[in-house]
Formats: sequence, C-alpha cells, structure tokens
Amino acid sequence: MRQAIAILDSGVGGLTVAKEVMRQLPQEEIVYFGDTGRAPYGPRAADEVLRFTEQIVDYLLQFNPKMIVIACNTATAIALHHIRSQVDIPVVGVIQPGSRAAIKATKTGFIGVIGTENTIASGAYPRSLLAINPNARVVSLACPSLVPIVEKRMYRSEEAGQAVWKSLQPLLGSPIDCLILGCTHYPFLAPIISKVLGPRVAIISSADETAREISTILHHRGQLEQSGAVPVHRFFCSGDPGTFQAIALEWLGEQIKVSPVFWQMTRLSGS
Ligand code: DGL
Repeated sequence: MRQAIAILDSGVGGLTVAKEVMRQLPQEEIVYFGDTGRAPYGPRAADEVLRFTEQIVDYLLQFNPKMIVIACNTATAIALHHIRSQVDIPVVGVIQPGSRAAIKATKTGFIGVIGTENTIASGAYPRSLLAINPNARVVSLACPSLVPIVEKRMYRSEEAGQAVWKSLQPLLGSPIDCLILGCTHYPFLAPIISKVLGPRVAIISSADETAREISTILHHRGQLEQSGAVPVHRFFCSGDPGTFQAIALEWLGEQIKVSPVFWQMTRLSGS
C-alpha cells in the first residue's frame, strides 16, 4: 500500500521543505501538518515544544507514513532524539542537513546561523557544524521577529524588509561567507536577507539537503515510490486554513486543500 512522507512544522515554514521534496521526489505523497494555531514555537518553553511535537507526530501516525520529517529547526533541536526513540520509522530533522550544506558551501570556514530563540539557545547548529568540521567558526543570531511576519503572509511587505534589516545588523561586517537559514520559515524572506547581506554571503536553506537525505534513506530502505500514480498530498493545520492555503499557493505554485484540525485539550497518550 502506498505510504506518504509525513512532514511537520510549527506553521507554514515546513512548506519550504515540502516544495523541495515535491521537486526531488515527484512520485512521493506528502501528509503535512502545520501547527499554525500555536506558532511560533521559537519563544515557547522547551517542554511545550516537545509536547506539541509529540502530539503532531501522534496525529500523523494515523496515516501510516513511511517516514517523519521534522521540518522545523526548533522542534528538531528540542525533540528529534526523543521522537526517534518513540517511533519505529525513520525520523529526519533539518539541522544536520543544513549544517552539511553550509560546510560544503563555505570557503573561509566562517558560517553564520540565524534561527529562533530556542534554536540558537540550544547550540544545536554549532554542535552539528563543529562535529563535521572542528575548524569551522560559527556566528549565531536569534531573529525572533521574522516568523510572525511569514505566518501573517507579509514576507513581501515593507515591514518585512525593515524587520530583516534590523535583525541582521549584528552580522553586517562579520567575516561569514555563508548564512544558514536555521528556521524553515526564513526561505520566504531569502531575497530580502540576501539583499541585506550582499552577494559575498551565500544563503543556505536546509530544504535541498533534507530532501536529498530523505531520498537516500528511502532508496536504502527500498521504499521509494514506484507506482507511477499521481501523488495526492494532504495538508492539515491547526489555525486559519485560508491563510495557510494562500501561502501554500504562493510558495508551491499550486492550489491545495487544507483541513483544519482543532486540538482537544486532553492529555496525550504517554505524556
Ligand atoms: N519553522 C520553525 C523553525 O524552523 C519554527 C519557527 C517558530 O515557530 O518559531 O524553527
């Protein structure tokens, strides 16, 4: 029976990964959950992010997916190891793929990382980068104002330009030659980020490398979709489906159907 790849994020950010999966693996079906009703995760307590991630994984498991992709840096930093220990299908995060892509791209070894407060505070990127190349120099910066702009679908607004410019001030004049977009929402702002930092700083999104990792794992497990049938993707969100749908149309270039999910405030099994 056909099995989908489950992708989750706090909101629309994971669409940046979903788009790359659709491009690299056009036969695969996706079941996506965006927790838009509870985004942003960046300023939330770690145990809350862990609980929300568990809850979404629980929800997605009902579709019998062949893999779970935590397309959220914040949830990856906090919950990846825990979720891996809870399920018996592969679970992929976005921090290692993003780190690999940056190590590949940098010429000087000076790598910038921007992310949510939680992701930056976790130190997950420096750890992952230095594990690959101990000589890398990492400059980390939290940019808490950016996710709400993307969730509100204001990524092309003047306000977005100002917020990016203000957020990135500490990086201007730093010797980095590449910048990891350590939050899956940030690729929506990539043109502005690139304009602020100039052509000498390569912008790295983890989406590419994450899709490659998914492809490699499925290939090794003999689970790449072979049926040739047109994939049917399913999208769920816990907030306003209209905004999600409009952002998805702009980002994916296709009309999708989004089903709203209303969280019950009951305790989760096992939590
Ligand atoms: N897109 C997510 C990330 O990569 C979450 C951002 C948020 O909800 O604060 O970190």
